[in-house]
Amino acid sequence: MTANSNSSSLLFEPLILRAVTLRNRIAVSPMCQYSAVDGFANDWHLVHLGSRAAGGSGLVVMEATAVEARGRISPFDTGIWSDAHVEFLSRITRFIGSQGAVAGIQLAHAGRKASTARPWEGGNLVAESAGGWQPVAPSALPFDEGDPAPHELSAAEIHGIVEAFAAAARRALAAGFGLVEVHAAHGYLAHEFLSPLSNRRQDQYGGSLENRMRFALEVVEAVRAAWPEHLPLFVRISSTDWVPGGWDIADSVALARRLKLLGVDLVDCSSGGSSPAQRIPLGPGYQVPFAERIRREAGIPTGAVGLITTAQQAEQILRDGKADLVLLAREFLRDPYFPIRAARELGAELPTPVQYYRAF
Ligand SMILES: Cc1cc2nc3c(=O)[nH]c(=O)nc-3n(C[C@H](O)[C@H](O)[C@H](O)COP(=O)(O)O)c2cc1C
Repeated sequence: MTANSNSSSLLFEPLILRAVTLRNRIAVSPMCQYSAVDGFANDWHLVHLGSRAAGGSGLVVMEATAVEARGRISPFDTGIWSDAHVEFLSRITRFIGSQGAVAGIQLAHAGRKASTARPWEGGNLVAESAGGWQPVAPSALPFDEGDPAPHELSAAEIHGIVEAFAAAARRALAAGFGLVEVHAAHGYLAHEFLSPLSNRRQDQYGGSLENRMRFALEVVEAVRAAWPEHLPLFVRISSTDWVPGGWDIADSVALARRLKLLGVDLVDCSSGGSSPAQRIPLGPGYQVPFAERIRREAGIPTGAVGLITTAQQAEQILRDGKADLVLLAREFLRDPYFPIRAARELGAELPTPVQYYRAF
């Protein structure tokens, strides 16, 4: 069964993005699994993503997947820097599609926050002698005071990374993804260029807002050119650094206006990650006001994410016109079948796999 368009629930209204239709407005937010070897996804990723597709979500976005090896957050991140990565990814997209969901992938470069241990192993920098590598960044400033400085990228190296994003988008297409999200949030490379806290460059990539946006805009332009016209492109941003003097929501509105002009279909509004000095007022839906403001002021569809955990809450965000799509992360770790539960609670038709009919 699929979601019923006669239902009064907005959460279960399809969302049309170019030639792609999401069966509902619930997305699995990208979540690193730290379980790959040499960037290769494996059975864990297939089952993890596949069960959330079977659970009824409209869109399943695969974790931050590195466009080059040194852009991995940890040595165990998935990657898409080589054609050899495509084959297993195809298996994942095929299964997600067979469950009626759209497979998306987040293309990422971790910048100065690369080469760290897995969270459950402490998350500290992994030294080169222990299988790590020297991270790269707009400026030679470490994330944490006292950590070794990252390598400051030259203009030619920056160009190489822009190209790597475009090549990754071409591989994502070959792997059967129907949607790409550029990761420009959480203190990773693109966000490091955006934020004055991490970008102290004196060249065309630093200084003014326009210059700090240049890298992110070049990446998006290159990905949009490499990614077919009929398929949607998202960009995830950190709407604010939560640090005085850092990147803020007004900057994000300005960026979103530019992203719209470049053919971005939705801005996925997260926040934070660029500085240990951040102070985040955590609470239910705490980032939703960013999605609302960007949607209103930049006139672009937005995704709301962050401490959205109930069907009613998700439904209300859409009803209030604050976002066009709701992304959930940790609630999906607790319950891969969240959409089935949400449909029941909201009186929409259940997106249940036929094999499970007898249980509903
Ligand atoms: C295990 C885990 C891994 C994550 N990995 C990513 C990632 O790869 N890319 C990303 O943009 N956000 C990542 N996030 C952030 C989530 O996508 C989401 O924005 C955040 O958890 C807030 O949503 P929630 O309150 O529904 O969990 C991760 C979160 C968790 C819990």
